[in-house]
Amino acid sequence: MLKMAVLVSGGGTNLQAIMDALDAGTITNAQISVVISNHAEAYALERAKNYGVEALLLSPKDFYTREEFNQALLKALLERDVDLVVLAGYLVVVPPCVIDAFENRIINIHPSLIPSFCGKGCYGLHVHEKALARGVKVSGATVHFVDEGTDTGPILLQKPVEVKQGDTPETLQKRIMKEAEWKILPKAIDLIANGKVSVSGRTVTIEES
Ligand code: GAR
Repeated sequence: MLKMAVLVSGGGTNLQAIMDALDAGTITNAQISVVISNHAEAYALERAKNYGVEALLLSPKDFYTREEFNQALLKALLERDVDLVVLAGYLVVVPPCVIDAFENRIINIHPSLIPSFCGKGCYGLHVHEKALARGVKVSGATVHFVDEGTDTGPILLQKPVEVKQGDTPETLQKRIMKEAEWKILPKAIDLIANGKVSVSGRTVTIEES
């Protein structure tokens, strides 16, 4: 059974999609061990409590130095013997000590087709603002493994979504969540939990079932 930590900063609709998929049996061989947020008011923490899993607040603001926070985050993951770290709208830079300890065992959902509209400062609604400003006709979402760069790790799954005339960042965000994010993040977890994913350099191979 794959033990997951889900790291969140906000509303937690992707966390909800994971919990729903676990309930529905579309993710198998996996369980959530802990949900960690850097914001006390993140609604994702309520979702975790309602689901009956541990909801842990770990905020850099509560530590004297960033290094102390980094070590506390690493300790929380190691203590719970986590196999996979899922970044589901987590807006904190994952420290190198965690990336080293969990090589190819951290995945992130990003709301665009990487390498478009990603990198530093590209998160949440900003991603959709940039996509609309560029005038793309297709955007989408990406699940990728996390390395030391920002949105640079090996790509696991992508799903395109149509941009419609008259879209605002909010309407585009909602469509991408519904049509792509809430589908490919649970799917990625199920594939990993069932041993179907291998990583070699920047290439991810998925075993056909
Ligand atoms: C999601 O759209 C996710 O893709 C994005 O934040 C949102 C969180 O929503 N993540 C990033 O932009 C990371 N670069 P949620 O809290 O409702 O899941």
